[in-house]
Amino acid sequence: MPDRYEVCKEISSGKTSTVFEARDKITGSTVAIKERSCALDCNTEAEISRELKICAKLNEELSGDPNILHPTDIIRTPDGARIITEICSGGELFEHLSRVGAFTEKEASRIVRQLLEGLKGLHERSIIHRDIKPENLLLTSSTLEDATLKITDFGCAIVLDEDAAEEVVGTIQYAAPEVFYCRYAPASDIWAVGILTYVLLSGLVPFDSESDIRRGKFNFDGDEWKPLSNAGKSFIENMLEVDADRRPTAAAALRHCWIREVGSARDDVLHCSGDLKADGLVDRYMATQQREEAAEIVTALREDFTNMGPEPLALAGFPSPYKDTHGDLDSSATSLSTPPQWRVDIEVSDLPSPTFSKLRRPSIPRLNSEVPVP
Ligand SMILES: Nc1ncnc2c1ncn2[C@@H]1O[C@H](COP(=O)(O)OP(=O)(O)OP(=O)(O)O)[C@@H](O)[C@H]1O
Ligand SMILES: [Mg+2]
Repeated sequence: MPDRYEVCKEISSGKTSTVFEARDKITGSTVAIKERSCALDCNTEAEISRELKICAKLNEELSGDPNILHPTDIIRTPDGARIITEICSGGELFEHLSRVGAFTEKEASRIVRQLLEGLKGLHERSIIHRDIKPENLLLTSSTLEDATLKITDFGCAIVLDEDAAEEVVGTIQYAAPEVFYCRYAPASDIWAVGILTYVLLSGLVPFDSESDIRRGKFNFDGDEWKPLSNAGKSFIENMLEVDADRRPTAAAALRHCWIREVGSARDDVLHCSGDLKADGLVDRYMATQQREEAAEIVTALREDFTNMGPEPLALAGFPSPYKDTHGDLDSSATSLSTPPQWRVDIEVSDLPSPTFSKLRRPSIPRLNSEVPVP
């Protein structure tokens, strides 16, 4: 690490980067350092360069935007780069959601408004983020009312008409219907806003499968939706418009009454009942993610076993790969990343626990270039 920054601890270690908390010896402030390296298999020089290009564009054209996390310094390293940003002590929106179960409409509206403000700035400069989700939205304070939301992680972002969208990227639960055809537009980020709003209010994801995403088939049937205002439902329905051309822009979404009025309503005027925080909602959301991460691990393990035939697989406790049982995973969007011959019926509890306990936290598998584009 360069002399200027003294690393204090690791914040996150993922597939494409490691993030550290560090002290800036010159200013005395605490910063975050995101280290990307070609030494990690999934990074290429081109991808790292593209993230750096977007970071530079953010600084040049959007430096005053409060809802975007700006790099304060970028350091090239022999095999990658370090991106230095202010530290967001409130952590990920995802962590807040895990703690409270679900947000009230007022809280959710305030958060979503900030997200839309940030996206409006990005889209006006032709930047499409392509991976909007609670893990990539950071908060400046652990107290939600005081926190400012910052959009981060431009690792999947592109500049429209400048960077080719040659592969499907992002996170499947948040992927818009057009994304499955590798077509990206600012509207694809808006779809993710609809998913995020649904998740914030219920702790659940709206779609179970790729086919449901393509058809825009979701509902507000569960008890958790009973207290939701009509404005809230209308907002989500607007964002989850299947036809990307008819989906609102960020600027239009900001004019929706649920954004303009609900977030600024007084607490005693708007009660989105505490029922929304019912136990188990986020647990169910996280279980979905764990199941999908489990599928990734199973797929990876199977690849190891493939050359040995089915017997070692059975010994390792996995169902036969040659049996085509249509289980949860098959009907879920995970089937995208799971070759058809590996379809199995598997629950999280079926996993060998040593493998499962290695998981840092539930995270949704990324779509990547290996995913067949229909
Ligand atoms: N400035 C920051 N302040 C606090 N936490 C941060 C900051 N930057 C990143 N993080 C944490 O590190 C995580 C990973 O960072 P980021 O999303 O930018 O990388 P990533 O591309 O998702 O990495 P990977 O794909 O390897 O997980 C974030 O989700 C967040 O938890
Ligand atoms: Mg991220």
